[in-house]
Amino acid sequence: MKEQLNAIMEEALQKINALVNLETLNDIRVAYLGKKGELTNVLKSMKDVAPEERPMVGQLVNEARAKLEEKLEEKKTAFEMKLREEKIAKETIDVTLPAKKPMVGHRHPNSIALDEVERIFVGMGYEVVEGPEVEYDYYNFEALNIPANHPAKDEQDTFYVTGDILLRTQTSPVQVRVMEQGNLPIRMIAPGRVFRSDEVDATHSPSFHQIEGLVIDKNITFADLKGTLAEFAKQLFGENTKVKFRPHHFPFTEPSAEVDVTCFKCGGSGCRFCKGSGWIEILGCGMVHPKVLKMSGIDPNEYSGFAFGVGLERIALLKYEIDDMRLLYENDVRFLKQF
Ligand code: DAH
Repeated sequence: MKEQLNAIMEEALQKINALVNLETLNDIRVAYLGKKGELTNVLKSMKDVAPEERPMVGQLVNEARAKLEEKLEEKKTAFEMKLREEKIAKETIDVTLPAKKPMVGHRHPNSIALDEVERIFVGMGYEVVEGPEVEYDYYNFEALNIPANHPAKDEQDTFYVTGDILLRTQTSPVQVRVMEQGNLPIRMIAPGRVFRSDEVDATHSPSFHQIEGLVIDKNITFADLKGTLAEFAKQLFGENTKVKFRPHHFPFTEPSAEVDVTCFKCGGSGCRFCKGSGWIEILGCGMVHPKVLKMSGIDPNEYSGFAFGVGLERIALLKYEIDDMRLLYENDVRFLKQF
């Protein structure tokens, strides 16, 4: 019995010494100390031992057991220490390294330009309103004095949802929606997305943004329009900016004009930026057509007003000297970060 016990112990201790990792340590524990383990088997065979020897054998087995447990525990602690040291070594933090900065988003040039335009008009007492991007033909065309067969409808070809519902081609329908509410006087701008079936190139996109402006009150004249837009241009492009009104035609205004500003790059002497002319076109405008007022329930004998429409991308491209509109839609962070 004693020899058997010694042999088992010797074998077990050898195995424990040869252990290389924690995982196999438990296998050894089970193999020797478990319910069906070798030491437990020795205890089970106690019935074959002479009764007077039993206490002695029992003690030997218990001592062996205690010794094995102690050895296993020692080995386990050693492995755990080693693992911890390895982990700590791996996780060493070099506090002298530069910190990783979190990536913070950046405002889009369109948003920066829009904020600027809104700031200017809110400063002049305007309200900022919104209209739907999916619009009725009536608001987008008819009520703006663009009847069914008008050529302007072709120029602003768009995406139709049904026969009389479409993606708006301009923000001008918001004028009609606000006038219909009948809260006079009106001083508002209406920024928003518009749609046309245009091919993508450096200056066109099937979806872009406009900012509509509308003022309706008693005794509003073209002088008010000129003064307002001259002030707008100065605030947006610089104190020395001059404006020029060129006669033009829009169905919903009469008279109508296109507005140019002196090139803020060369001051008007002519450069590559303004293609040598010294002027840059920025918007369309005019006095609201009496027919348009009437259709929206406003008496043209009592009230008059002016309107204007600016392309937001155009402002952003000019202000930040970006030469290709497509860059505004690609959302490349390396590009957007520059503004
Ligand atoms: N809606 C016009 C366009 O998209 C721009 C415009 C011109 C708006 C004259 C106006 C205006 O309010 O008075 O081409």
